[in-house]
Amino acid sequence: MNSPTNHCLKNPLLSNVGFNLAFHKNNKPIDYNILTVIELTDLVKVVEVAPEVFWVGVNDWNRRVFDSFIPLPYGTSYNAYLIVGNEHTALVDTVNPGFEDLLLRKVSRVVKPETIDYVVMNHAEPDHAGGIPRVLATAQNAKLVATRRGIEMAGVYYGVPPERAVAVKDGDSIDLGGKTLRFLEAPWLHWPETMFTLQAERQVLLTCDFFGTHMASDRLFAEDVGDGLLKEAKKYYAEIMMPFTLFVQRALDKVAGLDVKVIAPSHGPVYRDPKRIIAAYEEWARGPLKPKVVIAYVSMWGNTEALTQAIVEAVAAEGVEAIPYNMVVADVAHVASDLVDAAAVLFGSPTLIGGPHPLIASLLEVLRCIRPRVKLGAVYGSYGWGGGAAAHLKNRLQSMGFEVMGTLEVRGKPGKEDLEKAAGLAQAVARKVKESVIKIK
Ligand code: FEO
Repeated sequence: MNSPTNHCLKNPLLSNVGFNLAFHKNNKPIDYNILTVIELTDLVKVVEVAPEVFWVGVNDWNRRVFDSFIPLPYGTSYNAYLIVGNEHTALVDTVNPGFEDLLLRKVSRVVKPETIDYVVMNHAEPDHAGGIPRVLATAQNAKLVATRRGIEMAGVYYGVPPERAVAVKDGDSIDLGGKTLRFLEAPWLHWPETMFTLQAERQVLLTCDFFGTHMASDRLFAEDVGDGLLKEAKKYYAEIMMPFTLFVQRALDKVAGLDVKVIAPSHGPVYRDPKRIIAAYEEWARGPLKPKVVIAYVSMWGNTEALTQAIVEAVAAEGVEAIPYNMVVADVAHVASDLVDAAAVLFGSPTLIGGPHPLIASLLEVLRCIRPRVKLGAVYGSYGWGGGAAAHLKNRLQSMGFEVMGTLEVRGKPGKEDLEKAAGLAQAVARKVKESVIKIK
């Protein structure tokens, strides 16, 4: 039987670069015979995104969920960057646990991993910092560089002792010899300890989660990815950054004060034209809400569905975009993405055992987590023998700061009058949306 090493040596792509070590994933030898060409290339790829700034990250092609609720239809990547000065070398961010071997192999294509002097931790979440224990064990003289809060978290999460850590604050820098790393505090993007690292001479800004996209790709640069990129970046923004809109705005102000040439996040593509993603973030975080209404609903026997149809038509009749999502089949990432700039949201739920349907209750929990700017809503639905869902949802929405313009509960199949009431509620919401959007303009 072939050993993993033999598999590896047999592969022409790998032997071409003299890569002859077995690579393990999830503690199992990788079967190189079933990897795609793209995956094989990815195993050894190192990209110089700017002079002496090397991408040594990895793609996680098969990951399908993040934080146990965010769908990842295209996988994700964990971008790490090696910055090589005349005297010192720094590794900025690491990788998700399980990818440490690959990270170190990529580093070894540029420098000996043992010679790394600094491991910069922009963010303590394990998808970027999970490789720190392995890297610090390999580079035994390396220091971990992070914010004060980051150092504390590195101790808690990764057992990094204080003597191996250097705390930096906003504006501090480290000279690598002809290459300067400047640190910019950027808290709550996406945990309290987050910061950016600027390679000052080349104005390469390493932003970790900020400006990221959950996307595994053989194309590292944004301009090679195509128009779908910003759609995915917006979903990512909605789920990861929108809860911290105020901090996003502060970070955008900070970035505006620089002359950034390259934005290199730790998920997804690198932007050699930073204006593209900065403009998108400006729009999502500070732009006006749009004349559109999200209608999230569940129907068990078609009655809430019938109300939904009347509502969609009434909103559209006002010239306002109506976006219905049947939460039985909808992708929550799409809903979140539309909530970035929707001006109102309607919730349709039948009453189930005295309260809302669990899928709508769950969506409200998602709203609590992602904190969209929209604060205008209404509630509707049907019931069989006793209502209750609408009151429950109204209270929940008001506790999140929503103005609830109305509630409508209908027993059984909606009649003509019920459908007219639903349309009337939707019309009132749509008209208020138009007023508010005009006011914002
Ligand atoms: Fe990509 Fe907050 O970690």
